[in-house]
Amino acid sequence: MYLLQAENVTKVYGGRFEVNSNNALNGISLDIEEGEFTAIMGPSGSGKTTLLNILSGIDEATRGKIKIMEKDITKFTRDEMAIFRRENLGIISQDFNLLDDLTLEENAILPLFIKDDKSQNIEDRVRELFKFFNIWDERNKYPYNVSGGQQQRTAACRALITNPKIVMADEPTGNLDSKAATKFMKYMQMINENKNTTIVMVTHDSYAASFCKKVIFIKDGRIYTEIYRKESKRDFFNRILDCLAVIGGEINEV
Ligand SMILES: Nc1ncnc2c1ncn2[C@@H]1O[C@H](COP(=O)(O)OP(=O)(O)O)[C@@H](O)[C@H]1O
Ligand SMILES: [Mg+2]
Repeated sequence: MYLLQAENVTKVYGGRFEVNSNNALNGISLDIEEGEFTAIMGPSGSGKTTLLNILSGIDEATRGKIKIMEKDITKFTRDEMAIFRRENLGIISQDFNLLDDLTLEENAILPLFIKDDKSQNIEDRVRELFKFFNIWDERNKYPYNVSGGQQQRTAACRALITNPKIVMADEPTGNLDSKAATKFMKYMQMINENKNTTIVMVTHDSYAASFCKKVIFIKDGRIYTEIYRKESKRDFFNRILDCLAVIGGEINEV
């Protein structure tokens, strides 16, 4: 059984009647199994963020169908989608979406309050995550008083604090130095292996992608190719670079 299925997803920005071949997404179909660890790569403007926003129900497809856990999310009302997302998804968006009036710690624990989740000790959980991501000393600061990398790690903690079934992340290492990026990817690998968390991650960073088990390359809103990791991380990294060289484009632009 697939955990997530997208069928012929098309996105036209600014009015559904202007359909042509230059849509942001041009009929994307993909299947993701439970426990998969997938990277989505492609040149700047190829539709990665649009795709992730549609898969996570943040944005609506113009046409096509998305099923998550056998539920057609395109049929959800806004409220149903919000509840479904809260229960099942951990989303790290490209622009973090932290609330300015809350401290980093308050931002991170917000999902637990909204969910009214008393199953775990909130303080233990936040300490564990903040210490792991090296932002424990910053926990009482406000987003505008910390660096982009610290904001990004806070957004990651907020997405991970509920132990979501599915993590969807848009350039989650984009503001991190290589040491912090490695740490983040090791955490992703750990929850994928130990908790069977399904991960879908947009990235332009081949090193980050090499931690994944599968890479889907998209170009001009279409799936170009996908590759699976069978070899060592280093060899997979080289194969990712080869694919990117074939696709071309400004791959290092976010
Ligand atoms: N809100 C929007 N309104 C209009 N066009 C958009 C919007 N967001 C993205 N686009 C366009 O859709 C295409 C895909 O963008 P995006 O999904 O952000 O690509 P990527 O994340 O791969 O860089 C681009 O041509 C972009 O300009
Ligand atoms: Mg993007």
